[in-house]
Amino acid sequence: MSESSRLSGEVFYPDPVAAAAAHVPDHEALRAAAAADPLGFWAARAAELEWYKPWDKVLDDSNAPFFKWFTGASTNIVHNCIDRHLSGPYRNKLALIWVGENGTDHQTFSYFSLNREVTKMANVLKAMGVGKGDRVTIYLPRIPEVVFAMLACAKLGAIHSVIFAGFSADALQDRIGDSESKLVITADGSWVNGSVFKLKDIVDEALRFSPTVENVIVVRRTGHEVAMDPLRDHWYHDLTALPIAKGPCATEPMDAEDTLFILYTSGSTGKPKAILHTHGGYMVGTYTTLKYTFDIRDEDRWWCTADPGWITGHSYLVYGPLLTGATTFMFEGGPTYPYPNRWWQLIEYYGINIFYTAPTAIRSLMRFGEAWPNRHDLSSLRLLGSVGEPINPEAWQWFHRVIGKGQCPIMDTWWQTETGMFQICPTPSLPLKPGSGGKPFFGQEAEILDEAGQPVADGEEGFLVLKNPWPAMLRTLYRDDERYVKTYWSKYPGKYLAGDSARRDKDGYFWIIGRTDDVIKVSGHRLGTAEVESALVSHPAVAEAAAIGLPHEVKGNAIHAFVVLRLGHEPSPALAEELRKHVSIHLSPIAKPDWIDFTEKLPKTRSGKIMRRVLKARALGQDEGDTTTLDE
Ligand code: WT7
Repeated sequence: MSESSRLSGEVFYPDPVAAAAAHVPDHEALRAAAAADPLGFWAARAAELEWYKPWDKVLDDSNAPFFKWFTGASTNIVHNCIDRHLSGPYRNKLALIWVGENGTDHQTFSYFSLNREVTKMANVLKAMGVGKGDRVTIYLPRIPEVVFAMLACAKLGAIHSVIFAGFSADALQDRIGDSESKLVITADGSWVNGSVFKLKDIVDEALRFSPTVENVIVVRRTGHEVAMDPLRDHWYHDLTALPIAKGPCATEPMDAEDTLFILYTSGSTGKPKAILHTHGGYMVGTYTTLKYTFDIRDEDRWWCTADPGWITGHSYLVYGPLLTGATTFMFEGGPTYPYPNRWWQLIEYYGINIFYTAPTAIRSLMRFGEAWPNRHDLSSLRLLGSVGEPINPEAWQWFHRVIGKGQCPIMDTWWQTETGMFQICPTPSLPLKPGSGGKPFFGQEAEILDEAGQPVADGEEGFLVLKNPWPAMLRTLYRDDERYVKTYWSKYPGKYLAGDSARRDKDGYFWIIGRTDDVIKVSGHRLGTAEVESALVSHPAVAEAAAIGLPHEVKGNAIHAFVVLRLGHEPSPALAEELRKHVSIHLSPIAKPDWIDFTEKLPKTRSGKIMRRVLKARALGQDEGDTTTLDE
């Protein structure tokens, strides 16, 4: 996309009546107030939630960058997501609406019945010996049980690790092993565009080398025949029929800083890292950002299209909406099956008010034309949202005009698995510039720095950093404090390095450009070049591999891999196809390279590091830049 169109200077002003009625009627006024007293701002938000015991200190920064929030406090996020609603006006309100891919399966849960289901699952987990601090791997499709499982773990104080159900057995095994999970919750299969994807088979393969796992709970979804290990595997419906599943289950009081979950995400080097989030700060952060940015009201039906396997699903499909007492909508399927009007049909039928999705989805749906959305009454929509990668102006305009009918502001939210909550985002009272996420959230400050750590001039590109701690920030990388400090806090001591390049304009709006490290965003999914490369070299024909991201019209970036073959193997289109499939099977279909190039040699530095920058410049026909360190 051209630079001029990204910085077009077009501004969309909020409707004054709607802005005045929003939770944040005057964006700049609240920004100024929160900037003057960020801890006061966060303490006031925390006080809107319930705590078993209040905090001694809002922020303890005595051991930075190991920040602690709400120290001394006791709570449990499930108390605020569910328990506190049971005695109030939300008891019979819909908490969760779920629709299956086939369109006929449909379930709804009030806060009362959500509690019943979560309690049942918590009782089962407890009977299987799961308790505070234990790790539980959740590998489920987008079905209600994924929500129950996350909340049941949290209720008991166990740490969940949700793995996106599109990851391969190898990836699953790595993550189960790293977290030393004692239990896995999965399903027989998932529905993907009308066919069965055999999840349980993948779990079986992953568990061949997973000594820590004692039990597997299997939810029946697709109903096909699956192998069950009588000592290890249990049907969920059999377990819930047992007396152990009955009766109440106490919500475990947790220290605010106790771990809520870990979530694996890709980094620049090596294996995926487990981002660690806690009960107290994460709860306050997701609650506040969702309420203010998407202006959640009692009567709203909120739809976040993300999968619970990613942070967006954790924060804004499950936890955030329940914390605000909203009705959250979850759809098992994708946007184009059986036809490309599926999402628009659901918005109409269920009267969705706020719709939060990713630019890649918008771009793919745009290609089917306006006739599909125009068949539906989308007038229930009040606000739209975008996340995952920069949104190009064409996609922004289409989303705004065709889906929002020019009436719905688009909240472009920049954040990360690490940040847990929105960091740069508007609210409905901030004028919008298409392609910009607006300004740092209340209480937050961001900066753009040059290599030496000096702030760059407005309009110049540089490294995006966050200047102060925030409640939902990651606390560390699970069992790897050193890598936590090195990755995020060592380039510019005292400042959080986001890993993105960005610009700030003269009005203080931030414009994200893209990753500066070896992370590639493909269709909004985060992948590391190292993961793709190690999947490639696990193929017997491959000696060496390098992966880069190249611009792609729909996906944002697509993976281009360069492969050096082992002696005795010849390049061929058939082998290229085989390697693409290999990555798909051994890592994930989302990581499947679009192109494979066979080469004799990879450009490397004299110390042996692959120069992906040079490969990228060559592939794009650009200047290779400084190649003085190139060993050729
Ligand atoms: C990376 C984080 C947390 C949301 C899902 C992704 C990119 C995310 C935006 C946005 C431009 C964005 C960044 C970031 N990103 N949102 N609104 N505009 N870029 O979480 O998988 O941890 O990826 O996604 O590059 O660093 P994630």
